[in-house]
Amino acid sequence: MINKKIEAALNMQIAAEANSSNLYLAMASWADTQGFEGVSNFFYGQSDEERQHMLKLVKYVNERGGRAHICALEEPLKIFDCLTHVFQDFLDHEVGVTRLINELVHTCLENRDYTTQNFLQWYVSEQIEEEALARTILDKLKLIGNDKAGLYLFDRDINQLTVTSAAAPTPEI
Ligand code: FEO
Repeated sequence: MINKKIEAALNMQIAAEANSSNLYLAMASWADTQGFEGVSNFFYGQSDEERQHMLKLVKYVNERGGRAHICALEEPLKIFDCLTHVFQDFLDHEVGVTRLINELVHTCLENRDYTTQNFLQWYVSEQIEEEALARTILDKLKLIGNDKAGLYLFDRDINQLTVTSAAAPTPEI
């Protein structure tokens, strides 16, 4: 049975993942209206991923005898103006989520909930990958600057980008 403090903390993370999904949906929709089809697909995909992060938590809380709380979403109020700012927001947002996950892990350790702490390791790894991806993309955008041909190619190729973080586990041989 999950302790009430952990249940409340996980429910806050459920809300955070749902709001991340909503924010990336807004970014996808903005890119769609600007003719950046690749970027739009990238953020539609990120939005789906965040929903999966949320679902995984919902199922975990219920499975452990708690009750997942499904709350209203925040409206993303950001005004998007250019790709560099959108991806900077993406990185800043992921850094914020990493902070939340670390805080959650800390709460689990304080409450000796090693099962949930173990469950959260998946999110710890996921955050490393997402931050690495956001930084790689931002570096590329900084190189391209306002070059229209560069932005065209960036948009065409963004979904081919794969980033393996140095912190990822070494594959077994
Ligand atoms: Fe679910 Fe990108 O944090």
